Amino acid sequence: MNKTVENVGIIGMGSFLPAGILTNEDLEKMVDTSDEWITKRTGIKSRSILEEGVPAYTMGVEAAKKAIIMAKINPEEIGMVIAATDSPDFLVPSTACFLQKELGAVNAAAFDLNAACTGFIYSLSVAQNFIKSGQYKYVLVVSVEALSRVTDWKDRNTCVLFGDGAGAAVLGEVEEGYGIKGTYLGADGELGKHITLPSAYIPEDEKAKRLNGEFRTLWMNGPEVFKFAVKVMESAVLRIAEETSTSMDDIDYIVPHQANSRIIDGAAKRLKISSDRMINIVAETGNISSACIPIALCKAYEEGTIKKGNNLILVGFGGGLTWGSALIKWGI
Ligand code: ACO
Repeated sequence: MNKTVENVGIIGMGSFLPAGILTNEDLEKMVDTSDEWITKRTGIKSRSILEEGVPAYTMGVEAAKKAIIMAKINPEEIGMVIAATDSPDFLVPSTACFLQKELGAVNAAAFDLNAACTGFIYSLSVAQNFIKSGQYKYVLVVSVEALSRVTDWKDRNTCVLFGDGAGAAVLGEVEEGYGIKGTYLGADGELGKHITLPSAYIPEDEKAKRLNGEFRTLWMNGPEVFKFAVKVMESAVLRIAEETSTSMDDIDYIVPHQANSRIIDGAAKRLKISSDRMINIVAETGNISSACIPIALCKAYEEGTIKKGNNLILVGFGGGLTWGSALIKWGI
């Protein structure tokens, strides 16, 4: 019989952004857009782009190595590797299996989890429950995305939004009173049509949306997703606060999905919380799908913004459509 564990949390974190930077000024030379439009409509100024010829999973390896060192564990002690990604190098083998091999996590089960931009929160929830049940002592969650490789670089509606990068977390038992207090996950497949990225099967209507003939690219109905996002960011935050019996006055920081500053500011307004309690790094990263939240969280921790004892809400939304939130009492 496995011994159940009560308090599970993040015990190590790491992030990685590739060195190549694509600025709004660079994009002005590629499509009919302007720094002014992108800044005003999204808050994004630049994004990191992975070098050609380098597999995406290598970004995950770099982030994971830092998380494992910080957690002070050996890779052999990891029981499970979950890779959250919607832009994998291969569908088979999974990104998680590449990570398992490269990190020497020889005793770990490994699989990919696709909840698009909500992937990190979904993965945290899966990891937490495997540790709680006593089945695994440590679980490694890695969000790794190379959205530049599934972007139609001639489509100004999407190409200004995305970037590449990775964020990783090791989860394990933490001191009493700390760790993940709860997670809330949701999905509405009826709304899936608003963000699509085909793989092996590309129906005619999906081809018709992609005017430049780049079929394996991310297409999005931006305005519809925007309306959905502002509402769900508010409702998912309030829901997890309620489920964990936590007053919003006791929340120190919200770490939201980094899609658009207007969505983050809109959520802050609806939640009536000051914008300095919303971690916002979108200006320098753009939208890196599932990797946004762990990168923002890691950066805020490294810079000393987030401290031990803080109450945090992570909140995200994305393709599926999916959404989710997690309330964490930060324990490192
Ligand atoms: N430069 C200049 N003009 C542009 C650009 C651009 N890059 N892109 C669009 N426009 C134009 C449009 O063609 C349109 O012109 P028109 O009025 O002549 O038709 C005008 O700007 C307004 O376009 P909208 O799409 O209505 O602009 P909006 O204010 O909604 O902003 C945006 C678009 C930034 C995409 C916004 O809708 C958004 O952020 N949506 C949410 C995206 C999101 O959060 N996605 C997350 C999930 S992604 C995932 O899961 C990986």
